[in-house]
Amino acid sequence: MSGLRARIIGTGSYLPERRLGNVELAKMVDTSDEWIKSRTGISERRIAAEGELTSDLATKAGQKALEKAGLAPKDLDLIIVATTTPDLIFPATASIVQKKLGADGPKNIPAFDIQAVCTGFIYALTVAEKFLASGSCKHALVVGAETFSRIVDWEDRGTCILFGDGAGAVVLSAEQGDAGIISTHIHADGNYVDLLRASGGPSSGAPDGQDPRLPGLGAAQMRGNEVYKRAVVGLGQIVDETLEANNLQKSDIDWLVPHQANLRIIKSTAKRLSMGMDQVVVTVDRHGNTSAASVPLALDEAVRDGRIQPGHMVLMEAFGGGFTWGSALVRW
Ligand code: ACO
Repeated sequence: MSGLRARIIGTGSYLPERRLGNVELAKMVDTSDEWIKSRTGISERRIAAEGELTSDLATKAGQKALEKAGLAPKDLDLIIVATTTPDLIFPATASIVQKKLGADGPKNIPAFDIQAVCTGFIYALTVAEKFLASGSCKHALVVGAETFSRIVDWEDRGTCILFGDGAGAVVLSAEQGDAGIISTHIHADGNYVDLLRASGGPSSGAPDGQDPRLPGLGAAQMRGNEVYKRAVVGLGQIVDETLEANNLQKSDIDWLVPHQANLRIIKSTAKRLSMGMDQVVVTVDRHGNTSAASVPLALDEAVRDGRIQPGHMVLMEAFGGGFTWGSALVRW
């Protein structure tokens, strides 16, 4: 054992300028501000501008996290981007971010993507932690970034109300001491692929009705109610697993930083932890479900406004397509 911990030394986030509110959305599909707010807690979501790519969002969030950490791009040893909406089929968005950040250079640091949909950031954090705790990297940038609006079916009221674009990032440093990632827990169950997926892809071909010579862009499809029920169960289990693994009580957790998919799901996880909502970081109202970006977006907000303080125990969790789910416990 190296005795090293992966400590989060900087956070950053970025949301595209364009806001799409519920009232405007209700002019596009048969829905209402009241329905969306009461069922999901969402008031508005952000939409990336034409030509604004996932790598652009990721780079801006990464720059802010580096600034907070007091590091330069050349100080990084590793870049991981969690995304479901990469710029290109290949190369990885992380390679593009490396170049845009100016972290390309003589070290030729590794850069790769992780695809675990809404759990992507937790998966990426898990991988980065292994590099840092083993001593093979000193500084890592982990980003969750999405332009999910590009794979939303804007005629499907069951899904288009939910998603938005954004990016969040953390800079991790391998350090001795108590602060840092204490444990991560990740899971997947491939039996539920069809409940939540985007159709079409380079291997399976075009979505229905599109030119079969083109891989085409699929749209997010979800059996919302069934996903909802599984998410509540999966998140309840991951919270218990994390506490048990660390021999902790519910009362030891200071902050819950959940995946921002639906306020009702967030509340049920908080209830499982016997936590008041004043200990839960909620940002879903302002950016909807930004998939892999949602946990680091919320984390950045609570760090910057001073809610999360050194010594606090922070529990992050997420659930998404795959199904995938996971958690990360961090002592700040
Ligand atoms: N506006 C008005 N009515 C609507 C809308 C809408 N936008 N969407 C659905 N409805 C209607 C349905 O047609 C249905 O009508 P019916 O009873 O006449 O058939 C009724 O509302 C209830 O529909 P449900 O789907 O049962 O509604 P539910 O309360 O489950 O809310 C929601 C839907 C918000 C999608 C919820 O199921 C949810 O949040 N699911 C989980 C999402 C999630 O966490 N996903 C995981 C992460 S995403 C990822 O990994 C990419």
